[in-house]
Amino acid sequence: MCGIVGYVGSKNSTDVLVDGLRKLEYRGYDSAGIAVFEDGRIKIEKSKGRLDDLENKMGLYNRPNGHCGIGHTRWATHGEPSDVNSHPHGNERISIVHNGIIENYLQIKEKLESKGYVFESETDTESIAKLLDYYYHGDPIETIRRVLGTIEGSYALGILFRDFPDRIFAVRKESPLIVGVGKDENFIASDVPAIIKYTKDYYLLEENEIALLTEQEVKILDIDGEPIQKELHTANWDIEAAEKGGYPHFMIKEIHEQPTAIKNTVSPRIQNGLPNLGLENLTDERLASFDRIHIVACGTAMHAGMVGKYVIERLARVPVEVEVASEFRYRDPILGKNDLAVIISQSGETADTLAALRLAKERGVHTLAVVNVVGSSIAREADSVCYTWAGPEIAVASTKAYSVQLSVMYLLAFQLALVRKTVEPDQIQTLCSQLLDIPAQLEKLLHEVEDECQYYASKFQNAKDLFFIGRGVDYALSLEGSLKLKEISYIHSEAYAAGELKHGTISLITDDIPVIALATQKALYEKTISNIKEVKARGAKVLLVCREDSNLAGELSEYLIKIPLIPDILMPMLSIAPLQLFAYYTSVLRGCDVDKPRNLAKSVTVE
Ligand code: G6P
Repeated sequence: MCGIVGYVGSKNSTDVLVDGLRKLEYRGYDSAGIAVFEDGRIKIEKSKGRLDDLENKMGLYNRPNGHCGIGHTRWATHGEPSDVNSHPHGNERISIVHNGIIENYLQIKEKLESKGYVFESETDTESIAKLLDYYYHGDPIETIRRVLGTIEGSYALGILFRDFPDRIFAVRKESPLIVGVGKDENFIASDVPAIIKYTKDYYLLEENEIALLTEQEVKILDIDGEPIQKELHTANWDIEAAEKGGYPHFMIKEIHEQPTAIKNTVSPRIQNGLPNLGLENLTDERLASFDRIHIVACGTAMHAGMVGKYVIERLARVPVEVEVASEFRYRDPILGKNDLAVIISQSGETADTLAALRLAKERGVHTLAVVNVVGSSIAREADSVCYTWAGPEIAVASTKAYSVQLSVMYLLAFQLALVRKTVEPDQIQTLCSQLLDIPAQLEKLLHEVEDECQYYASKFQNAKDLFFIGRGVDYALSLEGSLKLKEISYIHSEAYAAGELKHGTISLITDDIPVIALATQKALYEKTISNIKEVKARGAKVLLVCREDSNLAGELSEYLIKIPLIPDILMPMLSIAPLQLFAYYTSVLRGCDVDKPRNLAKSVTVE
């Protein structure tokens, strides 16, 4: 989604803004722009397309030259990607960048049009810019306060007032915004990677706070304009984590970072051989007492929840429902006081997931957030938090965040099984030790299967449609394998519970249609084999992902990937690797923009 960067300091602000926006490219965008104070005037440059298009448009001669400015990458919601719809909006008196959606912008627009304002763009953002202009009589803070009292929706805003050169004003509601604090320079940004090259120190701006930045100072005011003291956070990772480190793409780097990410997430949470998530506000007694668990998330995080459902139900014998947040929040779900809501999110800012968390809390349900970004909205609002330690994930297609979310699902299942006494402690100890072995096994597997996956990708790269099938956790994993492929290679792909194929989808299986079949579960092996035979009989070309000891494997499939023997229940921790590599290499071979697939955003902060 949209990215915001603001800079005030002694450096050339255009350079810092464009550089920072590049670090936010992963969020997804289709146009970009900047507004910079140049000789006391606000100079705006914006363009549809990538940051390179903006750079080309500015060239040498139109490149704003100053020390304070705001920049934006826009992911279109209201109005197509175009120069005029790009941010910054406003005029040379007041200029803004905005992330989020203003719900009552039509009312504001009508009111302002009746006062003689003329709107140029189709965006909701222009209504804020014009409203600021309408209310402004010389006092920026007062103006911002009035505007905040009028607009409804979500926003992170960076604002420049011509009358207050070399100052940035910023506010937020529901969309994230941080205020970076450097030496003789200060920043605003949607996310840490934009500023990490310059500083690791930042404030998390809260709702109803107004930030005021100059080169020398950051002031945070409450909604009444009173200064407040805030805790300064320090990012615990450095610039290398946000760079490609020799890899051609962030996605492949992040795939290879999985063993370390899993180790960092799991090791501290296994003590004396047993799971200990160390959850604040959630004692073992309380954990044992839940009647039902609702796992709510979006996209890849939801797929991690799907595996979680199989694992938790199998081990802890507590019913688990998994639902996408955009459905959960609007269907008036039946929630009991004795239920637990597990909210999974890499970014901790996904609008629907945040709304689902708030709904669960309102209904008195205990909320446990599984989140990667420290201090994010979901982490802050949940009753208990379990951080995943994947480090920054930059590629839009989530890989290492998924693996660590899976790891937490296992740890949660183990701990629930322990406290509910559904599995003997010595068996849980064995499972824990097997989970601790996963990073080394995954590292080895990644190296062993990378070339094979590249080869199989070359075989399937021209497919128009592709199907993933599996049973049990393999089905849950198929959903993620299929999502990975379609989001970055643009090949139409669907995941099916293997047993469900014959109820319709098998009619789509004809000569040479690729089917990726997952058969890692011993108890379901024969059943899945029958389904594979069914698709083969109709001409499908099968890539089979199966256990190392599977018999018949060679006869059943054109292509084969074998997964080392680990307990069936843990198989997803390894078998996801070839699916990610397959999607990655297919995308590369098709010449797609692997890390920034079209139309997608890393952090979806609008519903
Ligand atoms: C977007 C991203 C996905 C991600 C989903 C949920 O669609 O492109 O990679 O899985 O949002 O994001 P979250 O940050 O809540 O995990």
